[in-house]
Amino acid sequence: MPIANIDDKRCEELYSAVVDRNPCVQLFQDLKYRFILPLPRDRKASLIDVGCAKGNFLRNLARRGYTDLSGLDLDNALYPDVAARVTFYRESLTTPELDLGRRFRHVFVQCMLHHLPAASLTDAARNIARLCEPGATLFIYEPNMASPVGRFFYFAFLRLFPAMHRNAMEEKDAQMAFCKGWEGFRRSLEALGFRPHRVSDWSFYKCYVATFTPVAGA
Ligand SMILES: C[S@@+](CC[C@H](N)C(=O)[O-])C[C@H]1O[C@@H](n2cnc3c(N)ncnc32)[C@H](O)[C@@H]1O
Repeated sequence: MPIANIDDKRCEELYSAVVDRNPCVQLFQDLKYRFILPLPRDRKASLIDVGCAKGNFLRNLARRGYTDLSGLDLDNALYPDVAARVTFYRESLTTPELDLGRRFRHVFVQCMLHHLPAASLTDAARNIARLCEPGATLFIYEPNMASPVGRFFYFAFLRLFPAMHRNAMEEKDAQMAFCKGWEGFRRSLEALGFRPHRVSDWSFYKCYVATFTPVAGA
């Protein structure tokens, strides 16, 4: 459903002021995409942002010169300037046998897995594999709900930007999905052929970067 009511408009303005136009946040984003989740060097390779919301990350990539950009989300709420530059798929990552008719070289999943109930993380892992071409790189970045700072950010964003969190979970569920579900989720990914080369879950975020080599029959 397109986001059009007044609350969403306010949410958009606030997000733009607090995130898009805030130099501290922009500096953090620059450092994040340099050191925590280094962006792929090949700017022509296909890339999908899963749970892209209004397309902030896609806009950031377009500004950096990436050209083959796609986004997937439950809601089609892309900013118009982003919508003009990317292919959008209105889908759920938990749809059984998700098939977009194409696969991608780079798959980003940022701050959306904690929206999924723990029981659907195995389907989500299978669908992530379906989005990846052989040799693809998967980039995951999520708040670490086991860390007080991670929880603070989760709830601050949940309250500040409700339009970005339509099906967000309450604290108990989100913590359970992500504290108890994360290890199982990683095992599901690895059984499907993901080989991690960057894993971090000691800080306020969880970060996981892996290369995909499909496993026959998985
Ligand atoms: C907190 S926002 C994250 C937005 C963006 N990735 C970022 O890091 O700023 C979470 C997004 O995930 C989307 N989402 C939640 N469940 C989803 C699902 N099952 N399939 C696809 N997108 C989903 C929501 O609609 C929302 O836009």
